[in-house]
Amino acid sequence: MAKILVTGGAGFIGSNLVKALLEDNNEVRVLDNFSTGKRENILPFLNRIELVEGDIRSYHTVMLSLKDIDYVFHQAALPSVPRSINDPITTNDVNIVGTLNLLQCSKDMNIKRFIFASSSSIYGDNPIIPKVETLEPKPKSPYALTKLTGEYYSSIFYKIYGLKTISLRYFNVFGENQDPMSQYSAFIPKVFSSVKNKNFITIFGDGNQTRDFTYVSNVVHANILSLKASEEAFGEVFNVACGERISVNELVEYVSTITGYKIEKKYLPPRAGDVRDSMADIEKIKRIMKYDVLVRVKEGLKKSMEFYL
Ligand SMILES: NC(=O)c1ccc[n+]([C@@H]2O[C@H](COP(=O)([O-])OP(=O)(O)OC[C@H]3O[C@@H](n4cnc5c(N)ncnc54)[C@H](O)[C@@H]3O)[C@@H](O)[C@H]2O)c1
Repeated sequence: MAKILVTGGAGFIGSNLVKALLEDNNEVRVLDNFSTGKRENILPFLNRIELVEGDIRSYHTVMLSLKDIDYVFHQAALPSVPRSINDPITTNDVNIVGTLNLLQCSKDMNIKRFIFASSSSIYGDNPIIPKVETLEPKPKSPYALTKLTGEYYSSIFYKIYGLKTISLRYFNVFGENQDPMSQYSAFIPKVFSSVKNKNFITIFGDGNQTRDFTYVSNVVHANILSLKASEEAFGEVFNVACGERISVNELVEYVSTITGYKIEKKYLPPRAGDVRDSMADIEKIKRIMKYDVLVRVKEGLKKSMEFYL
């Protein structure tokens, strides 16, 4: 049993991770300011966790949150490309300054491992498919730049101070507890909202853009494997995905099939900051961390359908 801090534990991915960590009998503390996360996400296990309501940018709050902690899973961030385009300064502040604050405090508190939630968005405009970790990053948005900076800081904190960091580059995650209501919602929750509200779906671009949509249990699995990963993983980055891609049009068709509601598609021009195609090479995480895909995209859509509807 370990004592674990999950920043952003009231968010979509964080709350799924907290649930799994509790199932593995760990002691869990959550640090969250509820800016995008929700109390209802942690309600089922509120009596089994310690909750620190506060901001990752506060040195004092973070130091208090790290007391007696072994491992940190840093999920807290402002996680949207469009939001970062509308307000790059706040995104920079939370995602870069907040991450640096956590790294510094983790170093000072001798944290055993620090796992950072990064993003496939760092590959941006690089046209090469599949995305292998050695590709040159080409961030297209302030959000992507903040995640890349978090990776660099994490790696530097290992190389300079010996803090054992691992960065996980998540690819388009979906599943239970993902917010379908925000104006910044991801694509899959919006598709299911179209079914629920018997409405059309807006697609930016021609819909032939592809994504390596990743069901959340795969991401939780990768995080938990990071706790046991060998020294080879420290200071490194790893793709976390299924290693497959599906077009946005095909995904909408599949959701129409499993829900029995024929979703009408309306097309608008592509949005600034959106990338065309995305698919991960997952050989590195398979080799070093013994990761394997637990749930593929279509099975994940079936599993999470009930939550979204
Ligand atoms: N969802 C995806 O597809 C995806 C893909 C790649 C990377 N990521 C990364 O995974 C992590 C989790 O994303 P998510 O989709 O669960 O988003 P989310 O918005 O559901 O979760 C983020 C959490 O961080 C909290 N938070 C934000 N600012 C904070 C602050 N200043 N202090 C304390 N807490 C704060 C929010 O309240 C929320 O609970 C993020 O770091 C995100 O960048 C997500």
